[in-house]
Amino acid sequence: MSGDAAFEEINEAKVNMDHIYNQDDPRRYFGELEKLGYAIPGVAKPIFQQLISHLQRIRNDTVRVLDLGCSYGINAALLKHNVSLGELFEHWGQKKLEGATSEEIIANDRHFFADLGEPEDIEVIGLDLAKNAIAYAEDVGLLDEGIALNLETNLLSSMAEEELASVDLVASTGCVGYVTEKSFERLLPAITQGQSPWMGNFVLRMFPFDTIEETLNDWGYVTEKLEDQTFFQRRFASTLEQDQMLEQLSDQGIDPTGLEAEGDLLAEFYLSRPIKDAAEMPIASLFHACT
Ligand SMILES: C[S@@+](CC[C@H](N)C(=O)[O-])C[C@H]1O[C@@H](n2cnc3c(N)ncnc32)[C@H](O)[C@@H]1O
Repeated sequence: MSGDAAFEEINEAKVNMDHIYNQDDPRRYFGELEKLGYAIPGVAKPIFQQLISHLQRIRNDTVRVLDLGCSYGINAALLKHNVSLGELFEHWGQKKLEGATSEEIIANDRHFFADLGEPEDIEVIGLDLAKNAIAYAEDVGLLDEGIALNLETNLLSSMAEEELASVDLVASTGCVGYVTEKSFERLLPAITQGQSPWMGNFVLRMFPFDTIEETLNDWGYVTEKLEDQTFFQRRFASTLEQDQMLEQLSDQGIDPTGLEAEGDLLAEFYLSRPIKDAAEMPIASLFHACT
């Protein structure tokens, strides 16, 4: 089965969140996901930070990150600023913001992030099909560049191809599953024009990564999974969602005992790097305990 057919079936079993992805500001996204204990961008932060510091050392320059499925610029906010996901939930959940217009939220958020002090020396390009979320993240200054595009169905523009030529790290949380090998096939010619970037994808356990891995192999990449580690994404939205997802796992021969069976949606971390980089620096040497 192709990646998109397999992913479509799994997505049908997963609760639909499309209504919160393309708002004019992040309040509803955070409001809904807080109820489910949404955590993956916060859990991913220390892993991405370690990859960024390795890349800073190796490439001796400002690291450029492409956040795939960047939504409202959440990974950019966490990686550029000294702020936790919990603090972002608190910020966007404030009672006093309830009646504010999105324009007021954007103005307020510019100050909020500016007041957090000098951002980290990284640049973040965000790609997401949600135009409004991208516009918010650009307006607030979380994204240095936003690409509003569905790469499953469309090609990159030549401007976007140029923009992506110098990316050092492709990062994603909660996005693989919505995107398949098709998006990677369309990204790869652009992002490998110069030094090929590393790619770190947090992927829910029910979404097989093998078709994306095969696509990356064709471009000289090696993919490794952080073994024996799972990363909490969120709680199941309902027992129906849990039952359906357990069925998906069981169909794939994945044992949920003590994991999804306890009510949590869990991700794994896949690191894909050019063969030479992977040989020089084994995955185990890249990370110190941070989960
Ligand atoms: C679960 S959210 C994750 C957002 C963010 N990375 C995070 O961890 O909070 C999934 C995101 O993928 C985006 N998405 C869905 N299909 C996509 C596609 N074909 N191309 C790009 N982004 C897509 C959605 O708009 C949404 O912002």
